[in-house]
Amino acid sequence: MRLLLSVLSPVLSLTIFGLCPTLTIGPKEGWQVYSSAQDADGRCICTVVAPEQSLCSRDAKSRQLRQLLEKVQNMSQSIEVLNLRTQRDFQYVMKMENQMKGLRTKFRQIEDDRKSIIARNFQELKETMDELNPLIPVLEQYKMDAALISHFKEEIRNLSGVLTGIQEELGAFDYDELYQRVLRLDSRLRGCMGKLTCGKLMKITGPATIKTSGTRFGAWMTDPVASTRNNRVWYMDGYTNSKIVREYKTMDDFVSGAVSRTYSLPFKWEGTNHIVYNGSLYYNKYQSNIIVKYSFESGSVLAQRALEFAGFYNMYPYTWGGYSDIDVMTDELGMWVVYATNQNAGNVVISQIDPDTLHVLNTWNTEYSKRNAGESFMICGTLYISNSHLSGAKIYYAYSTKDSSYEYIDIPFHNQYFHISMLSYNARERALYAWNNGHQVIFNITLFHVIKTDDDS
Ligand SMILES: *[C@@H]1O[C@H](CO)[C@@H](O)[C@H](O)[C@H]1NC(C)=O
Ligand SMILES: *[C@@H]1O[C@H](CO)[C@@H](O)[C@H](O)[C@H]1NC(C)=O
Ligand SMILES: *[C@@H]1O[C@H](CO)[C@@H](O)[C@H](O)[C@H]1NC(C)=O
Ligand SMILES: *[C@@H]1O[C@H](CO)[C@@H](O)[C@H](O)[C@H]1NC(C)=O
Repeated sequence: MRLLLSVLSPVLSLTIFGLCPTLTIGPKEGWQVYSSAQDADGRCICTVVAPEQSLCSRDAKSRQLRQLLEKVQNMSQSIEVLNLRTQRDFQYVMKMENQMKGLRTKFRQIEDDRKSIIARNFQELKETMDELNPLIPVLEQYKMDAALISHFKEEIRNLSGVLTGIQEELGAFDYDELYQRVLRLDSRLRGCMGKLTCGKLMKITGPATIKTSGTRFGAWMTDPVASTRNNRVWYMDGYTNSKIVREYKTMDDFVSGAVSRTYSLPFKWEGTNHIVYNGSLYYNKYQSNIIVKYSFESGSVLAQRALEFAGFYNMYPYTWGGYSDIDVMTDELGMWVVYATNQNAGNVVISQIDPDTLHVLNTWNTEYSKRNAGESFMICGTLYISNSHLSGAKIYYAYSTKDSSYEYIDIPFHNQYFHISMLSYNARERALYAWNNGHQVIFNITLFHVIKTDDDS
């Protein structure tokens, strides 16, 4: 039963529907939100699946949820309108911000007035509103559509209206309904903040070819924890016997070939699975299982540490070889290194490491043969492994470090230039960077999210 859908804008869309009989989600498990950072038009796509139990059970929650659903269904009518026009108006964003500020002020007043009676409830409400505030800049960032903004604005005005009513007539209000409304607003806004939440890989689109340069094997990357203004690109051609890292100020400079700095590392690298994280390069030192942390700013090695038992020098490379034994990676949850050991029979081992000291924090042994892995990357604590570096490669295996479980999956991607020697997830860009046979390409990804909303009230 598809109940509801979609608030759409050129940059943000939200699809809400309930799936009564088919999904088994506990009432506590919150909303499930499918989202991709962007679709072809640059929109943030979210699909919210309402929790089943609350929707279908006959308890008090079902009434609230029906209202919620009805509300959103009402909103879906504005979608048609939203779809028709693409006007953007930042004044609406500003007004919305003022509305929110006004609403908060109102909450404070009410809280003062009614301290003894309903202070606790209002404290909760106020906190929810406070949580909404950080969303304002995100909304701006997404350049939200004027009509959508005005809708939120109206909703907030309605909330304000209810609050005014409360001020006038103590006791005669439906606190529950009010609270639900705030929660709804909160969860809708939150729902589309795909960039802030984690999820499971659903789809890989692209690639977009950024540049054609270098040899068949190499690495290139951006820094996932740099500020959004810092878009430096690093470029490391070749998989062995080299120390030269090129830096570009921007992606455009990278495309045009305007190098801003060239670094000569103290040690040569091996493989192509290097990363830049918070201004430092992490890479596998030549003919060893040592990981090196090199600071671009100081030009010095800040840490280096051997990865115990890790095979190196083509003992356990990815399918394409190239001394790709040791793969350093980062995701939303931190820094990881993927390798194989004799102890684990050459199967993939995952260790979470401390980005400062390179100490191993935790280790997981999988049963996937490293030599049969095309490449791998980590998203939200789950390792995804492709089955080949050649045409027809797909993401074939996923290992969740959260519950130490694995599953075989089948997520195809377009290996446009037939040979992949690097595939690396960048959490800031929500994208996979790849070295595709002398082409530097980017894939977009779609994630399935579970967003926790506290829908007890
Ligand atoms: C949905 O719209 C109808 C008609 O405009 C209105 O009567 C109803 O109260 C709305 N539902 C919610 C939950 O706002
Ligand atoms: C706001 O309230 C008005 C009047 O009660 C109603 O028609 C409108 O649908 C509400 N808007 C939203 C977004 O809830
Ligand atoms: C990925 O998304 C970005 C932003 O919308 C877009 O510019 C880019 O073309 C997309 N790339 C691919 C490979 O789809
Ligand atoms: C990045 O490095 C700076 C100092 O060099 C530190 O303050 C900050 O916490 C680091 N950020 C992350 C995400 O590690």
